[in-house]
Amino acid sequence: MGYFSSFLQQTDDRLLTKWLHYFEVYERELTRFRDRPVSFLEIGVFKGGSIPMWKGYFAEGSRLTFVDIDPECTCLAEDGTTVEIGNQADPAFLRELAQKHGPFDVVIDDGSHICPHQVASFEGLWPHVLDHGVYIVEDCHTSYWPGFGGGYRNEASFIEYSKRLVDRMHSWYTDQDALFPFDPIAKEILGVRFYDSIVVVEKHNKKEPPATLTARDGQVKLSRRALQVRGRRSAFSGRDGS
Ligand SMILES: C[S@@+](CC[C@H](N)C(=O)[O-])C[C@H]1O[C@@H](n2cnc3c(N)ncnc32)[C@H](O)[C@@H]1O
Repeated sequence: MGYFSSFLQQTDDRLLTKWLHYFEVYERELTRFRDRPVSFLEIGVFKGGSIPMWKGYFAEGSRLTFVDIDPECTCLAEDGTTVEIGNQADPAFLRELAQKHGPFDVVIDDGSHICPHQVASFEGLWPHVLDHGVYIVEDCHTSYWPGFGGGYRNEASFIEYSKRLVDRMHSWYTDQDALFPFDPIAKEILGVRFYDSIVVVEKHNKKEPPATLTARDGQVKLSRRALQVRGRRSAFSGRDGS
């Protein structure tokens, strides 16, 4: 908690609102982005308390963009940061936002926490996350609240959407093409990590399908036979899997 605990002691009158256990997740997921300027986006400004927190966290020269639907948030921008006003569920707004400020190393969705909004933002912004960047969705416990478009095992919840991302990440491997076809997003996801109330999706643009590695007597061999024998030619072709 080093940086965060000292930041919290020095906050001013701009209210910051986060769950306590998020700071440990930030340490685990974001520390590696601190040694160089990054492009960062947070959805959800509210009273602006997270703006100085992220400004102090990331390296000098980082591009920090914040989004809120409430026009009153505009005045909360400070030097070296930008606040854009728009609806996180609006694909046209997200496109414009990404064109203006993307691509991003880190995206944090701390906006409405309404499941269809979380899905719309992920779908609109994931293509604009950089290789080895992370997309972080907070307050995913709303996936268990019907009032936020969730509810236990509700297919429309963000948690259920994220569980399906786990399947899609593994679509290289299945031999049940009709039931479970290859999904090109498998070429982009390094991992989907579930924390209490937070989902992190890490991007890794994979030029090649996964390979098994064998090593003996100093000889290293790679093989994709496990995929090829399953006839998964789609996994070896272009982005559309055709
Ligand atoms: C939880 S607060 C953000 C807290 C802030 N990130 C912090 O750490 O202090 C959520 C914010 O999301 C904004 N919001 C709600 N619906 C939105 C939407 N559809 N698009 C963009 N922002 C939205 C609200 O106006 C509110 O200011």
